[in-house]
Amino acid sequence: MPKRLEEIWSALAACRDATKGRHLRAFFAEDAERFAGFSARLDDLLLDYSKTSVTPDALALLLKLAQTAEVEAKRDAMFAGTAINTTENRAVLHVALRNLSDRPILVDGIDVMPEVRATLDRLFAFAEGVRDGSIAAADGGRFTDVVNIGIGGSDLGPVMATAALTPYHDGPRLHYVSNVDGAHIADTIAKLDPARTLVIVASKTFTTVETMTNAATARKWLAGALGEAAVGAHFAAVSTALDKVAAFGIQPERVFGFWDWVGGRYSVWSAIGLPVMIAIGSENFRAFLAGAHAVDEHFRTAPLDKNLPVLMGLIGLWHRDVCGYPSRAILPYDQHLVRLPAYLQQLDMESNGKRVRKDGTPVERPTGPVVWGEPGTNGQHAFYQLIHQGTDVVPCEFLIAAEGHHPDLAHHQRLLIANCLAQSEALMKGRTLDETKAQLTKRGLAPEKLEALAPHMVFPGNRPSLTIAYRKLDPFALGRIVALFEHRVFVEAAIWDINAFDQWGVELGKELATALLPVIEGKAPGASHDSSTAGLAAYLTAGKSA
Ligand code: F6P
Repeated sequence: MPKRLEEIWSALAACRDATKGRHLRAFFAEDAERFAGFSARLDDLLLDYSKTSVTPDALALLLKLAQTAEVEAKRDAMFAGTAINTTENRAVLHVALRNLSDRPILVDGIDVMPEVRATLDRLFAFAEGVRDGSIAAADGGRFTDVVNIGIGGSDLGPVMATAALTPYHDGPRLHYVSNVDGAHIADTIAKLDPARTLVIVASKTFTTVETMTNAATARKWLAGALGEAAVGAHFAAVSTALDKVAAFGIQPERVFGFWDWVGGRYSVWSAIGLPVMIAIGSENFRAFLAGAHAVDEHFRTAPLDKNLPVLMGLIGLWHRDVCGYPSRAILPYDQHLVRLPAYLQQLDMESNGKRVRKDGTPVERPTGPVVWGEPGTNGQHAFYQLIHQGTDVVPCEFLIAAEGHHPDLAHHQRLLIANCLAQSEALMKGRTLDETKAQLTKRGLAPEKLEALAPHMVFPGNRPSLTIAYRKLDPFALGRIVALFEHRVFVEAAIWDINAFDQWGVELGKELATALLPVIEGKAPGASHDSSTAGLAAYLTAGKSA
């Protein structure tokens, strides 16, 4: 690591030590303008990071860290189509998929934008055709249901966006099948009429065993019910591996490609978004792209100290590397973002769960944290106990809209907002022993009972959180939120100097599953495996024939 960076990390540790005994309450007491100083906006998108222990000195150092780690140059390299995914020798250009400007984006000297636009036009035409019935089932009737078969990035993005944009959903019903567990497809198709169902097979590689197995089962279901000749009319596919799609037998006009410079977990903006396009229509999907594009332009051009993804990344590093917190909770106070935590889990953990730098040497400090979460207020009644009073500090990331989608239920939204703000306030302030005792005294508790109970009711506070606030979760707002997190992951990876765009860590399990299948099928002995694996295999296959 360049010496200069090491010095900045040491200075950051010193900064943390200098304020270690200081409670977040004191930060606010000493600076009445703390919110103004430690929040940033992109139009009506607001990032509040004042409820963290970052001081002006720490922030200056973090910004220096970003400069010294050349975040801006690395960002520019991404937008310029450089092969920054070095282990796979690929450009990283999900930003091209939502580039609604006239700016060309070059890969190997060739502008990819004409092809991106042409593919999007084809996708929109197909989606609108399914929506208006002009693209019909084998019997000429409309599709009422669409099943997307995919996993990981070919599932989580569309699932998340479909739930997030429920109020805009006016197309056929959507269903998602991802798990190779037969229960997933069986339970899904059990409630569907094959004659009215379109199946989209979504796989970047078109080799993923879960997706291929589910696709074959869906094919069998359609062929069994409608006859072999009808199957073609009921399938569409999305992939970068067009040769493999052709081999599966899907009609070429129903096949939509994308490019190897789109990572699976960054692909919701591509043809992988087809089910979302079918659900909400092309105009709304374009607004989703426009939201992301607005953040891309902001990330590309805003100074570091006003740059929302940069600030989020730096606060992330402060929590992970300087304070040593091992996880981050994503807590949307927005029921439609119910799948955002799962989506961000893949985005963040598959991108930044790395232990070596780009040059293959070990990273000297902790990288990606464990990302988890659930929508509020449900989480409050489940795991917030630990967040408030447990022995680990969990930095929380709240998301909240000013407006809901149900004007007739505005009192629900007011309650939701009050709860969201109350949680970050409680985490920050806590409640001291004296305050607790005073409250119990007021309630008339006898002194001996009060002494026994009070320690259980103390909240240490001093627990950090970020809040992202927006007007309303419409397609544009969702696009902005997702792009914000994508670029945050980028910033963190750039400073750790890791490759956020490969995922070798998923490979070993896939290889071993392939090796174990003959054992589970009873076609090979389990003895060559360790005794635990062999013992479990023996238990799980006992009494079954191949
Ligand atoms: O196993 C991990 C992974 O490769 C993800 O990165 C990807 O999103 C997912 O599998 C699905 O891959 P594909 O779209 O090629 O089926």
